[in-house]
Formats: sequence, structure tokens, C-alpha cells
Amino acid sequence: MGLIGAGNMARAMARGWGEPVLCTDHGSGRAAALAAELGGEAPASNAELAESADVVVLCHKPAQLEQVAREIQGVSTVVSVLGGVSFSALRAAYPSAGLVRAMPNTPVEVRQGVICWAQDELDADLAAALRDRFRVLGAVIELPEPLLDLATGLSGVGPAYLAVVAEAMSDSAIKHGLPPALATELVSLTLAGTAALLRAREGDTLAIRREVASPGGVTVRGLAALERAGLRAAFLDAADALASHRP
Ligand SMILES: NC(=O)c1ccc[n+]([C@@H]2O[C@H](COP(=O)([O-])OP(=O)(O)OC[C@H]3O[C@@H](n4cnc5c(N)ncnc54)[C@H](OP(=O)(O)O)[C@@H]3O)[C@@H](O)[C@H]2O)c1
Repeated sequence: MGLIGAGNMARAMARGWGEPVLCTDHGSGRAAALAAELGGEAPASNAELAESADVVVLCHKPAQLEQVAREIQGVSTVVSVLGGVSFSALRAAYPSAGLVRAMPNTPVEVRQGVICWAQDELDADLAAALRDRFRVLGAVIELPEPLLDLATGLSGVGPAYLAVVAEAMSDSAIKHGLPPALATELVSLTLAGTAALLRAREGDTLAIRREVASPGGVTVRGLAALERAGLRAAFLDAADALASHRP
């Protein structure tokens, strides 16, 4: 598998696989740095990479679709992680390749990612082998293409949203005197534990909330303050902001 691009997403996936990597960049030196970290190679060009790879994974930005496709015409299997780039745009760039749209999130780096997945004109055995390869990085969720961009607006952007939530929670406790390192540790353990509980309870957020927020207690006061500050409205606005940029 050869990765075109060695930025945030390529690096997260390569670190998750933890194996020698084959990747290129656009001149920054990030591909060579990744190959130095994990072993493997950073070929001088995308064409050279495509000659050595059975499957090419597009990890550049969407704007480079046509330019890269011109450099690697003839590749038989293309996995695209490009946000918002449809199968019809990929098909125009790679007319005869088997195609996958895989939308990972950055926790793939620690093998706890979510990879939303759709495929087009791909041999069944190869598709199964590729899904197994990506399952190393986390949960592979197969979706019809129309749901892929909507799902990405949750799982793809989610790590950034939750990082801000974690930061805000830590800062609020630090303001009242908790040592910063302890605040960070408590928040990350609480996020991980709550995520595990949420899965164990099949997504029953109300039950989890009620078990903590006893009537007249401190948690309900905290929750009421968050509602007054517009926490839910802020997430709705964020979803609208994403939707207005969706192709
Ligand atoms: N970040 C996320 O959480 C996330 C989640 C899901 C999907 N994605 C998708 O992943 C893709 C990459 O995002 P990113 O955050 O990793 O971006 P990034 O950090 O900017 O990395 C982009 C990489 O593409 C390389 N590149 C640009 N033009 C190239 C070319 N012509 N040939 C070879 N390499 C080229 C860049 O090279 P240089 O290093 O030389 O600049 C860089 O290594 C995007 O399409 C995005 O939609 C990202």
C-alpha cells in the first residue's frame, strides 16, 4: 500500500499500522521523516510510488485530485481519504480503478479510530482484504455514499470537538485550583471511561446523565449552567457550518 501525502492523516494511519511505510509528499520532507520513523521508503515521485504499490491511498488535499491522478494513471486500486470528494469525482480522475472512499479519524493512530467506508467497482476479495487492513486501525463502518459525508461530520471532526471540550473542562477545574497535570489526566480518563460506558449502555445518554445528576445536587446545577451558556445550540451551529461547506 502506498500513501500519497504524509500529513496528519497519512501519519496517523501509518503510525496505527506501525509497519514500514511507502509514502510521498509535495516537498516538505514529511514523507522521508515518516519513513525514517517507521522504516520504509519515500520515493521521489508519485509515479515511482505507484509502480511499487498494489493499492494507492490518496492522503493529499482534495484540491490536488486531478494533478495527482495525472501522475499515477493506470493504478488499479485507489483508496481515497479525501474529505467531501465523491465517487463521481474520483471516477472522473481514475476511470478504470477499483475505488474505496475511507474516512478515518485521527484516533487511528492509537488503533481506536472510526473508518467510515464505501466502495465502488472493487473486487470482493480485495475489498475484504482492504477492510481487514483498515480494521487494524479501528472500527470500519460501511455506509452508502450519501451518508458518508454526514458521518464524517461527526466522527472525522469529533476528535477536534472533544479536544476543545477536554480543554474547557480542564481549564474550568484549573481556575478553581486543580493542578493542570492532574486536571488533564482526570479529563482524559473520564472521557475514555464515559465512552466505554456509553457503548456498554448502547448509547443511552439519558440514563448515564441521570445516574450522576441526582435531584437538587451539584451536577444538575452544572448542567443547567451549560444549557444556559448554549452548549447544545453551539453543536447545532457547528453542524450547520459544516453543512454549508459540503459539496
Ligand atoms: N486530518 C483529519 O482529521 C482528516 C480526517 C479525514 C480525512 N482527512 C483527509 O485527509 C487528507 C489529508 O489531510 P491532512 O490533514 O493529512 O492534510 P495535510 O496535513 O495538509 O497533509 C497533506 C499531505 O499531502 C501532501 N501533498 C500535497 N500535494 C501533493 C502531491 N502533489 N503529491 C504528493 N503529496 C502531496 C502534502 O505534502 P507536504 O508535506 O509536502 O506539504 C502533505 O504531506 C485531506 O484530503 C482530508 O480531507 C483528514
